[in-house]
Amino acid sequence: MTMIMTTLKYLVFCLLFLPAAAMAAGGAHITHVDLDLSNKAVERGRKVFEEQCSTCHSMVFLNYKATMDPELAAQSFGKEPPDLSMTAKAKGKRTDGAQYIHALLTSYYTHEDGRPDNKVFPNIAMPNPGLTEEASRDVAAFLWWASEPSREERKTLGKWVIGYMVILTGMLYVVNKRTWKDIKKKG
Ligand code: HEC
Repeated sequence: MTMIMTTLKYLVFCLLFLPAAAMAAGGAHITHVDLDLSNKAVERGRKVFEEQCSTCHSMVFLNYKATMDPELAAQSFGKEPPDLSMTAKAKGKRTDGAQYIHALLTSYYTHEDGRPDNKVFPNIAMPNPGLTEEASRDVAAFLWWASEPSREERKTLGKWVIGYMVILTGMLYVVNKRTWKDIKKKG
């Protein structure tokens, strides 16, 4: 009974939560681009992060500490810069989080009165890091990868499992044939 209740609660949670998550990720101003998520792009993005973002942002899962004191940052910008370890995952399924980060970084503009703002995140407390298009794509790829570093491991594991299954199938086929050959001979 408790099992059923737990499952039901989980289902209700999913039904309530998923549409909200989808809405959060599908903001009106996010233009999806053809992001390069290769290891090379991820490594370039890591450099961008180290040089341009780690002043303010930590990434605890990768042992990056913000160089600026978080309290000082909070005082200077009005908000504490969040840890970016899981941001890509929090902002959308699959690669949507990376799309969100890229869109965010490339959506800074200036109001007529000279006030800086962001189309994806109006009134964002983060100053424009002023990245090139390439750098924003690469750092989005890096944050995407970082939010799930086991992604690559799982891919290689998948290959081993498939290889194992192929070999196992082959062996079973041979065993099966031999067994029947003997039985047919006897019969
Ligand atoms: C000068 C400090 C500073 C630097 C440098 C900086 N950020 Fe931020 N960042 C912030 C602050 C402050 C916030 C919180 C913004 C808010 O909630 O209004 C933030 C928020 C974010 C968010 C979360 C946005 C959201 O929707 O919640 C992302 C993603 C992000 N930064 C990425 C980056 C990346 C990538 C870089 C490097 C290219 C970078 N930041 C550089 C201060 C900084």
